[in-house]
Amino acid sequence: MRIKNVSLVNFRNYSTLSLSLEDGLNLFVGENAQGKTNLLEAVFVCALGRSHRTKGDAEMIRHGYDTAKVGLKFKDRLGNREIEVEIARHAKKRIKIDEKLIARSVEQMGVFNAVIFSPEDLSLVKDGPGERRRFMDMELSQMRPLYCKALQSYARALRQRNALLKLREPRLDMLSIWEHQMAEAAAKIASWRVSFISRLNELAGEIHARVCRNKETLLVEYDSCIKEIADGSAYAEEFLKQMKKHRESDLRRGITTFGVHREDINVSINGRSARLFASQGQQRTAALSLKLSEIALVNELTNNKPVVLLDDVLSELDEYRRELLFDAIQGAQTLITCTGAEGFMPKADRAYTVRDGRIE
Ligand SMILES: Nc1ncnc2c1ncn2[C@@H]1O[C@H](COP(=O)(O)OP(=O)(O)O)[C@@H](O)[C@H]1O
Ligand SMILES: [Mg+2]
Repeated sequence: MRIKNVSLVNFRNYSTLSLSLEDGLNLFVGENAQGKTNLLEAVFVCALGRSHRTKGDAEMIRHGYDTAKVGLKFKDRLGNREIEVEIARHAKKRIKIDEKLIARSVEQMGVFNAVIFSPEDLSLVKDGPGERRRFMDMELSQMRPLYCKALQSYARALRQRNALLKLREPRLDMLSIWEHQMAEAAAKIASWRVSFISRLNELAGEIHARVCRNKETLLVEYDSCIKEIADGSAYAEEFLKQMKKHRESDLRRGITTFGVHREDINVSINGRSARLFASQGQQRTAALSLKLSEIALVNELTNNKPVVLLDDVLSELDEYRRELLFDAIQGAQTLITCTGAEGFMPKADRAYTVRDGRIE
């Protein structure tokens, strides 16, 4: 996958921008708060339909304006393609693929693929479970549009169930309807998570051995709400049973305490939970291994190599780890940002300067 051109209108601190990119390594240099992360965010929005760093779409619209637009012209195995995302303060997001407006957001999934890596990702192991779920959901959604669809349907049913739980006397038949919908979606979500994490574990084990020069063994496991049931219908059945079991306490708390929205990825180093027992340095190294594995896994699972977005991560890594990172992104078009104060400049196919929402 190769971006040919990025265009922005009123996106964050950009008023208008049209920028052509090189196939290999594109380097963006600029001081803080000039618009480097904003540019990578805009590209990522074309992959996932939303930002990697914020929930509210409107935040991305330039202050004082009502709409923002991001457009990408890119090339994949099918040839030249286009994607355009328009975000409005007072209206629904509009997404066009090859100039045709799409009806549902999941149609965008898998059209354009990107992996983003920012300094915050280095706390992936230390963070709460929500961050690790986001980590797997972002890539799985892009690679498997049906996963995204299942997630959306699960989230919808969960919202409805939670709303009912807040009523004084909710109708049990209504609860049951949403629980069935959740169970059906959860069975699909879980089966994708199982295979994603098991392959991630294989890759992360190998990569981590290299990253820490064989000093540690890394293990990545799926902490699923239902253990050891692979079959879809048996899973759904067990899920429903558990839901019913949790009803009483859920009603008391007014929230759904059981389900795939509570799951986690367990990371351990030498057999001990990295989150609880590893040092800060070990946690960051393990997070790097996970990120590198993610890049490798996405390369493996999509026929189109995703575009890699590296935001300010070079300064966070020593020379050896930088080399491993460059190894992992070989052959992919890459957009890298840095401030120039890193004391190290990668060999770029093209370097750009970012200053106050303009790129030269
Ligand atoms: N919606 C917005 N409208 C206008 N400017 C914005 C908006 N959101 C962020 N900014 C500005 O963008 C700048 C930060 O850009 P960013 O890409 O994060 O910087 P960096 O180059 O350090 O990565 C800040 O000056 C911030 O005020
Ligand atoms: Mg930044």
